[in-house]
Amino acid sequence: MTAGEHRPPADAADPAPEAVRALAAEFLALYHRENPDAGPPGRRLAEVTAEISRTGTYTHTARELDFAAKVAWRNSVRCIGRLYWRSLTVRDRRGVDSADGIAAECVRHLELATNGGRVRPCVTVFAPDRPGRPAPRVWNDQLVRYAGYPRPDGTVLGDPVSAELTAAARHLGWPGGPGTPFDVLPLIVHGRGEKPRWFELPDSAVLQVPLEHPDHPWFARLGLRWYAVPAVCAMCLAAGGVRYPLVPFNGWYMGTEIGARNLADTDRYDLLPDLARRLGLDTSSDRSLWKDRALVELNVAVLHSYDKAGVTITDHHTESRRFLAHLAREERAGRAVGADWSWIVPPLSGAATPVFHRYYDTEQRHPAFLYQPPAPTDGFAP
Ligand code: ARG
Repeated sequence: MTAGEHRPPADAADPAPEAVRALAAEFLALYHRENPDAGPPGRRLAEVTAEISRTGTYTHTARELDFAAKVAWRNSVRCIGRLYWRSLTVRDRRGVDSADGIAAECVRHLELATNGGRVRPCVTVFAPDRPGRPAPRVWNDQLVRYAGYPRPDGTVLGDPVSAELTAAARHLGWPGGPGTPFDVLPLIVHGRGEKPRWFELPDSAVLQVPLEHPDHPWFARLGLRWYAVPAVCAMCLAAGGVRYPLVPFNGWYMGTEIGARNLADTDRYDLLPDLARRLGLDTSSDRSLWKDRALVELNVAVLHSYDKAGVTITDHHTESRRFLAHLAREERAGRAVGADWSWIVPPLSGAATPVFHRYYDTEQRHPAFLYQPPAPTDGFAP
């Protein structure tokens, strides 16, 4: 095997055909139960079983794939935004496996998802793993990410979460961005049988929102911003014994993701100390609750700015109510909903939202979006 060939990670042995068949049977039973117009599963299961015996895997129909992706969202135990799972736009791009093709489809995904600011939940499904033939991958963990450049003093300019990816991009020859705290990273795409390559995202595909505060004119002068569309691309879709390692998906943001985590966490942009001082708060003691007060103002700024820019964003109070509506609706349909309390409860004012005050069934059902081993770098990363 040559260095440029895409090797599967050591722990990703191809699943045994019996295991694939069992998972396929379970998935088809669910699909036919929830889609009575597709008839009973018997014939399709026989077809799939034969294909698995022949090839070790099978090919979902377009409708099965559409269903699998929607239900994987419905089953995402960490996602509070699942009420609209049926409205997911599923883009079937299983035939695309070249780096050029993947990069172009990722750009198209961002354009469709951004939709001029009226963000649309979308998923693009690229080629699945096949026995002996692992799927193409993208190294980024989201389609849009800001670079993190190490400074000589050990701190990071930009987003520390992307320091490693930034180094990998530089290693592949990316010249680096202009050197702001918000330089958009290129996509690093590892197409089938190719070397990994970087692709700059066109500005027109990356809608961003400059942040300002409704009551504090100085806030806008800080030059803070965030992007419109959170498009996760590091997770895989596991559906009926088939693994799709490259399935970029997005919803819209909930304000706290940006205002209480990305810009506030001490290992991210760590903005609270600076904001608190500008707000005139006493930062000499935790007991002044300067962090809490700065957090609230930062979150006010995020929601206000997205609204002003006409970019879809939800707040944690609204989304908590919607999530409980989702639970009730699913239960009426006879389906159990798994949820991870520690992810569902928002990182700001948790107990002021109704999702705090109860327990959840924690089971992760399938189909599912799952974490997977990072894309093999085949010696192309530092
Ligand atoms: N929390 C991640 C971020 O801040 C995004 C995860 C997905 N979020 C979503 N609203 N669909 O970038």
